[in-house]
Amino acid sequence: MIPIYRTVAELRAAARVWRAAGEVIGVVPTMGALHDGHLSLARRARAECDRVITTIFVNPMQFNNPEDLKKYPRTEAADAALLATVPVDAIFAPQPDEVYPEGFGSVVSVSGVSEPLEGKMRPGHFDGVATVVTKLFGMTLADRGYFGQKDWQQLQVVQKLARDLNLAVQVIGCETVREADGLAMSSRNLRLTVEGRAKAPVLYAAISAAALEIRAGHTDRMAIREAAETMREAGFERVEYIELRDAETLMPSDDPARPRRMLAAAWLDGVRLIDNIPV
Ligand code: PAF
Repeated sequence: MIPIYRTVAELRAAARVWRAAGEVIGVVPTMGALHDGHLSLARRARAECDRVITTIFVNPMQFNNPEDLKKYPRTEAADAALLATVPVDAIFAPQPDEVYPEGFGSVVSVSGVSEPLEGKMRPGHFDGVATVVTKLFGMTLADRGYFGQKDWQQLQVVQKLARDLNLAVQVIGCETVREADGLAMSSRNLRLTVEGRAKAPVLYAAISAAALEIRAGHTDRMAIREAAETMREAGFERVEYIELRDAETLMPSDDPARPRRMLAAAWLDGVRLIDNIPV
């Protein structure tokens, strides 16, 4: 049985023993509803660290819509069973008042990289992410933190906060895990209807085709317009954005000498899907 810690004091007691023995602690922060994407992070941490902690915490501070927070799936027993297959050494699953006790009043805000794209569409979201990730790193005494590239902008925000605040944590970005048809794994995929699920891979296919065209010398505007068109024709209700950005700063980039990333967000079946790929 993997121990499930509910309080910072219990978690710290275990982490301190590991630290004192010189063991490297890897942390996989999650909000639960685990799928193979999360498990691949935990497996990588297992392979690279002496001890692995998975955190399961639906962080109220990163939700700008209270309905979304209420509806977020909470599946702790199933999550624990999946983590036992890795296995991890500990699960940290606190209640909100353990993370945000009365009187809590600090915010970690990462300027620049957290402002465009998801930051614009979901005001306050990245302050919530940056604050909780900073707290989780501190609570777990993490040496390494594992994050999926599926949330590319989040990964850049966490990398920057670790650099800016001199945290002694190495932030590791792991490849997006995809279904056989290319759809990036996400707990949101379960909210799609059967018809929606059949159309969803068009998001990845469309941005992949656009990236190929740009690499072949077509203008990014044209390639992006075609990708958006393909998605709308496939039945996506709304394409929120498809953007070619500098992979690190997330600012607009037309410099092919710099690593660039195409990022997209679109609505299908009332579900907001995101994805990104290198260009
Ligand atoms: O990606 C997520 O699941 C969350 O944003 C994270 C990193 C666990 C912070 O709550």
